[in-house]
Amino acid sequence: MKFFIDTANIEQIKQAEHLGILDGVTTNPSLMAKEGVTGNNNILKHYLKICNLVTGDVSAEVISVDYDGIIKEGEILANLHKQIVVKVPMIPDGIKAIKYFSEKGIKTNCTLIFSSGQALLAAKAGATYVSPFIGRLDDVSTDGLVLIEEIRLIFDNYAFETEILAASIRNPMHIINCAKIGADVMTGPLSAIIALSKHPLTDIGLEKFLADHRKGN
Ligand code: G3P
Repeated sequence: MKFFIDTANIEQIKQAEHLGILDGVTTNPSLMAKEGVTGNNNILKHYLKICNLVTGDVSAEVISVDYDGIIKEGEILANLHKQIVVKVPMIPDGIKAIKYFSEKGIKTNCTLIFSSGQALLAAKAGATYVSPFIGRLDDVSTDGLVLIEEIRLIFDNYAFETEILAASIRNPMHIINCAKIGADVMTGPLSAIIALSKHPLTDIGLEKFLADHRKGN
């Protein structure tokens, strides 16, 4: 399973990269705004900064919602750096744009996926990744993990190469359950990644090992 961090925060990206297990970064307009990055030039510079910090894919989202605008923006983003994956919303013009990018060899991440039908359409258009938002489904009393299971089944039935990028991850159990189902990638906050490493018996065991070592010296 690939681990992406879902943030535009440079310090958190550095910390995740430092762990040695980071495979990529996803961002979205809300995450960019949260870091106070505004204006087209600053946004592009920020993407470049992120690309220079990590070795894997960096998803950069278009703002346009019409086909021509998505193509124009996507090409600018793709030309910025070879690690950029153009993030396109699941709307009819987005599907058409994903098909265009796929034929041009430009990687895409189809975002705002909330149903298996949407994921199927994105895969048919040639998306590199689909991003089902499991946390936001959980927020409205719908089991987000069921969506991951359905997409896994459909993609396996037809051997689609599109990768399932489980997004809107909120906690370590989301990551573990997505791994059990076989999501190809998860993107989540640093806190959920770090939480995977925690266990009270590890802390107690380590404390005892160190205390016993001190006794013997
Ligand atoms: O990558 C999509 C993700 O950022 C959405 O997460 O927590 O805003 O639902 P969240």
